[in-house]
Amino acid sequence: MDIKDSRFITSSSAHSQCPPPDLPEFAFIGRSNVGKSSLINMLTARKNLAKVSGKPGKTQLINHFLINNAWYLVDLPGYGWAKVSKSEKQKWGEMIHDYLLERRNLMLIFVLIDIRLPPQPIDMEFINWLGENGIPLALVFTKADKLSHNKNQSSVARFKRQLKKNWEELPPMFVTSSMKIEGRDRVLSYIGDMLENIPPE
Ligand code: GTP
Ligand code: MG
Repeated sequence: MDIKDSRFITSSSAHSQCPPPDLPEFAFIGRSNVGKSSLINMLTARKNLAKVSGKPGKTQLINHFLINNAWYLVDLPGYGWAKVSKSEKQKWGEMIHDYLLERRNLMLIFVLIDIRLPPQPIDMEFINWLGENGIPLALVFTKADKLSHNKNQSSVARFKRQLKKNWEELPPMFVTSSMKIEGRDRVLSYIGDMLENIPPE
């Protein structure tokens, strides 16, 4: 699958404000600064479709992008941003949890993980919450250009070991670099396969 056309549709501050759930949807989430917006730009081959920033917490709303007039790609605000107040964290939690639990056209959520870091409690907590709620997910390791191939492999292996403590079956995993344009084809063909295999209602 290739992306021929991508268009920003809208930013929503609540699930209830999102576009009608009339097309299949894939969302991207992860800790603030992990590279969600960069990954979306890499996948769509657009420099500035999603806003990238060195400052954590850039994306604060649910951002919908229409891809090939056929499906939505969603940039979600990052979690684990230290500099927000407790009430803002709560607001984030409600917005994201509502969206994930209620959005009926959501096919899959990609959880982004910085490949350089050991498994972070906040990521494990979130992934386990997705599992408990039966929300299909895949993992995308980001910033693979920052480590050697071997270090990337051992980082993924370390993450798998951690997951196996709670999970019998592991989710699909992709190693990517938005800077070096790595992993693009694998992520897109995974999305393409899912789109081709949507059961009729
Ligand atoms: P929030 O919207 O704040 O939650 O952040 P985000 O997850 O959308 O991250 P964003 O894409 O804005 O990237 C954060 C920083 O990481 C920026 O300085 C990017 O240039 C950098 N970055 C993102 N992806 C990569 C990558 O694959 N390689 C390298 N080296 N840097 C990256
Ligand atoms: Mg962002």
